[in-house]
Amino acid sequence: MNIKKIGVVGTGAMGHGIAQVAAQTGFEVWLRDKNDERTQAAAAKIEQNWNRLVEKGKLTAEASVTAKKRLHLCKGYQELAGVELLIEAITEDRPLKETLFRELNGLVNREAIFASNTSSISITQLAAASGRPERFVGMHFFNPVPVMALVEVIRGLQTSEEAFQTAFEVAKQLGKTPAAVKDSPGFAVNRLLLPMINEAFFLLQEGVSDAKTIDEVMKLGANHPMGPLQLADFVGLDVTLAAMEVLQRDLGDSKYRPCPLLRKYVESGRYGRKVGRGVYEYPA
Ligand code: 3HC
Repeated sequence: MNIKKIGVVGTGAMGHGIAQVAAQTGFEVWLRDKNDERTQAAAAKIEQNWNRLVEKGKLTAEASVTAKKRLHLCKGYQELAGVELLIEAITEDRPLKETLFRELNGLVNREAIFASNTSSISITQLAAASGRPERFVGMHFFNPVPVMALVEVIRGLQTSEEAFQTAFEVAKQLGKTPAAVKDSPGFAVNRLLLPMINEAFFLLQEGVSDAKTIDEVMKLGANHPMGPLQLADFVGLDVTLAAMEVLQRDLGDSKYRPCPLLRKYVESGRYGRKVGRGVYEYPA
């Protein structure tokens, strides 16, 4: 199936990044968050990113104008009716995602493929709720989407070969390297990455070292571009906790238990960079 029209629902760090890259690489994109305000804010952020790319000489002014024309802001989900691939990137909450997919199933073209950018939730389970399980696939992007090269493409139990291959091809057309991954909690990257971040919170909680030092040792000793606590702030502490809870519950192994300190930060509203405070503070 040759995809030209992509819908993106959810405009957080992942959703707006996916929409930006898709419009930049030639797709017509329909973008929607839960209200107009958030949808417009995301469009402004995307435009700002394109302006920065033009200033740096990484995108021509002409290409940025063309990309902007390809980005359509929706006033409601009904405007997504004609898309051929719909990528969901809303909050990491299973009931919320299932409700959204049920609603979209009644609105969007029957032939369209649904994809979820979930960090850890079962694709098979979301597919079952979507009402089109054979046309449902996981497309897991990484933050910041314009920079990170990988997309994990995940088959649910009932995903058709055609839907899988289509998503795999779209990932390539987006300029990414797709990797085929089985539907297993956390898929491949988050199964490795999030327990490391969680362990960094245990180090902090136990006073093994302070936050800056924990980050510094992983940058200098393991060549990571960011330390694990910085990365937690970047990804979102709420997202990290939600994914650890899925790993613990679905893999049934206590080694994935979320660190109590991580949970406390989330309970106190310290979600990370997006709210100006996580492990570190980010003055506006
Ligand atoms: N959006 C777009 N571009 C961005 C960006 C953003 N949010 N942040 C940085 N960039 C670009 C910069 O413009 C710069 O581009 P240039 O080379 O063309 O000038 C380039 O990235 C490098 O940025 P900087 O020089 O400002 O800073 P760094 O060299 O420190 O790189 C980083 C920033 C790319 C974020 C790097 O620190 C990094 O790779 N960190 C790790 C990111 C990571 O692990 N992501 C995966 C998280 S897990 C995930 O997303 C899965 C989810 O399910 C939890």
